[in-house]
Amino acid sequence: MVTITGINFKNPTMLASGIMGTTGASLLRIAECGAGGVVTKSIGPEPKAGHPNPSMIKLECGFLNAMGLPNPSYNEFDNEIKLARSGTDVPVIASIFGGNAEDFVKVAEGLADSEPAAFELNVSCPHAEGYGATIGTDTCMVESITAAVCDAVDVPVWVKLTPNVTDIKAIGKAAQDGGADAVVAINTLRGMAIDINSGYPILGNRFGGLSGSAVKPVAIKCVYDLYEALAIPVIGVGGVSTWEDAVEMMMAGASGVQIGSAVHESVDIFSDIASGIELFLQDKGYSAVEDIIGLSHKV
Ligand code: DHB
Repeated sequence: MVTITGINFKNPTMLASGIMGTTGASLLRIAECGAGGVVTKSIGPEPKAGHPNPSMIKLECGFLNAMGLPNPSYNEFDNEIKLARSGTDVPVIASIFGGNAEDFVKVAEGLADSEPAAFELNVSCPHAEGYGATIGTDTCMVESITAAVCDAVDVPVWVKLTPNVTDIKAIGKAAQDGGADAVVAINTLRGMAIDINSGYPILGNRFGGLSGSAVKPVAIKCVYDLYEALAIPVIGVGGVSTWEDAVEMMMAGASGVQIGSAVHESVDIFSDIASGIELFLQDKGYSAVEDIIGLSHKV
């Protein structure tokens, strides 16, 4: 078991936002597959159709996506969180987005009666104009949005950070100054793919967010830097697909590890990684996962 921001997780793995998180039934399925926690697809203040297709492509090194934050709005989604919660004790975390602090507060308050275990503020979508792309790179916006949500809700607030900045530590500090209980790093890295026959960018939005194995070393470095710079927990995400990746992320400083792209391979990944971590701890003589969190800073 691991406790992060006062929430107990039976293991340190969690479903990352964006995959299998659009309905209560899919969240429940992942919970039943052994995830320690599940995070919803990001929910906003109004129904949103998203970007034109193609909105996701598979590359050799991961996925490139520009879904465009499609969601039915908080009004429609609170029932999905209630459905997931009614079928499992696994903590359900609500990922939310908006264009400003008022939007974020409206969504958080609108979802509060579905009682998510925590809110994860998506201030870091790499391309949705007016949302993450402009908010998550601005320390003042990150601090004021975080402070407003922390004021409005009485569950932990996590802030998901973008790697598309010069100094992620400064953004992490802004979240911490705003009262965040934890930061989650990293959201996707901005990227593009071009069809060489037509010359057209492949994604409907032209560019998107890169996830999967290509971003893992970037995520490890961001988690390492944030662990050193902040006093609040860091939750690691980016390219984790094996228990060895999860251990590496935790040694960099992650208290928990979110898994996204690799879920496309198998939903058994959560229990596989959780038992891999357990065996590693036993094998090396560690008494708890806490023994390896941030270990690379201490050697
Ligand atoms: C989307 C949102 C994200 O936060 C991200 O990293 C990638 C894509 C989206 O809905 O388009």
